[in-house]
Amino acid sequence: MTGNRKVKITDTTLRDGHQSLLATRMKIEDMLPIAEKIDSVGFHSLEVWGGATFDSCMRFLNEDPWERLKTLKKVFKNTKLQMLLRGQNLVGYKHYPDDVAELFVKKAVENGMDIFRVFDALNDPRNMAKVMTVARKEGAHVQATISYTISPYHNIERYVEKAKELKELGAHSLCIKDMAGLITPKAAYDLVKRLKEELQIPIQLHCHYTSGMAAMAYLKAIEAGVDVIDCAISPLALGTSQPAIETMVASLKDTKYDTGLNLELLSEIAAYFKDIRKKYAQFDVAATSVDTNVLRYQIPGGMLSNFYTQLKQQNALNKLEEVLAEVPRVREDFGYPPLVTPSSQIVGSQAVLNVLTGERYKIVTNEVKAYMKGSYGRPPAPVNEEVRKKIIGDEKPIECRPADLLEPGLEAAKREIAPYMEKEEDILSYAIFPNVAKKFLEERMAGKVKVDFNIAQEGPNNGTSAFYPV
Ligand code: CO
Repeated sequence: MTGNRKVKITDTTLRDGHQSLLATRMKIEDMLPIAEKIDSVGFHSLEVWGGATFDSCMRFLNEDPWERLKTLKKVFKNTKLQMLLRGQNLVGYKHYPDDVAELFVKKAVENGMDIFRVFDALNDPRNMAKVMTVARKEGAHVQATISYTISPYHNIERYVEKAKELKELGAHSLCIKDMAGLITPKAAYDLVKRLKEELQIPIQLHCHYTSGMAAMAYLKAIEAGVDVIDCAISPLALGTSQPAIETMVASLKDTKYDTGLNLELLSEIAAYFKDIRKKYAQFDVAATSVDTNVLRYQIPGGMLSNFYTQLKQQNALNKLEEVLAEVPRVREDFGYPPLVTPSSQIVGSQAVLNVLTGERYKIVTNEVKAYMKGSYGRPPAPVNEEVRKKIIGDEKPIECRPADLLEPGLEAAKREIAPYMEKEEDILSYAIFPNVAKKFLEERMAGKVKVDFNIAQEGPNNGTSAFYPV
């Protein structure tokens, strides 16, 4: 066929797939038996690390995240490895100092990471610049990300402007990250078309299936010229995860976008993961149907289930509708942040407080104070100054990049973790998650074997992003 423009696929099964559907609990031992087969498919890349997996490895699985990366690098000999990096938040939930960020990226490259997908919850490029620069210097592929959201402020022009800024910062490619499944087929088409015209770098689309629109959005984006789409193998696709690989491969077959991937081989991989998913039934969110609340309120699926848990604890489930209606108002007051870790948690908790206390911003979380002080970065649109005043009084918000105010963190981390340290990477694990890493490293030193699932460790709102959009 003439004019072929083969569409490429990133397989997200081993990161976003299980983070979205199985609370990030998949262990390396369930990845390795199928690795060779996955490696032979011909994917553009495999998203296998970052996001909540780093935290989950140590917190729940008694697995060293660095060992996981090293092991995966050994078994995936032909396919590039990709990770999700939360800008200056790295794989955590707050800003880390530059020395920690720099060493983290260096060690990730050293242990085998090829592609860094970098995002910031507020789309503030200042929070992405450091890790992008280091990754680029280390020879990795830097994919900058626009977190997609819908608001009166956001439009194609503003996204294009942001994308150009990110290209200036050294992005090799750009990802549109639709973590909530909000992008409509038409919006996907229009946005991709403009970005392709303006940017001249590869564009990748990352959608969650939550609202049921993602596969249609992919098709329209492909018609508009998107280069790569993110999919998961069918047993770990749909619901709050990505569209299924097989669906897209079959849909594009015999068109000029044909992926050329082998459906027989994919079905063998699917059969494997069908059994694996059963093993994790206790963590399975089982959200396979379409979540209409996403369409009604533009609230990501993960946030919704968290509201449900929080309100149930307070014996206030009858307030759910009120909370859902409060979210867009809080978001407006906050300058329309995209709802993704950690902004989804910040906005969500405040909406619950506003409703339960009966007075808006009567009680605010520390995170909300920090947000209004500018400690998370610059919100997309101006915040509501009246609300800001109520929250931080006459205190002046910071103007600089938040991480500029942080003291270096490596030396202290090194001192504190010295008795347990086996390798340099341990310092990073500790600098990012002090409590979780200390416990993990202590247990490692005591030679404790891997623990089995321990549901007692689980709790609602347990601090991981497992229940939040990713
Ligand atoms: Co995602």
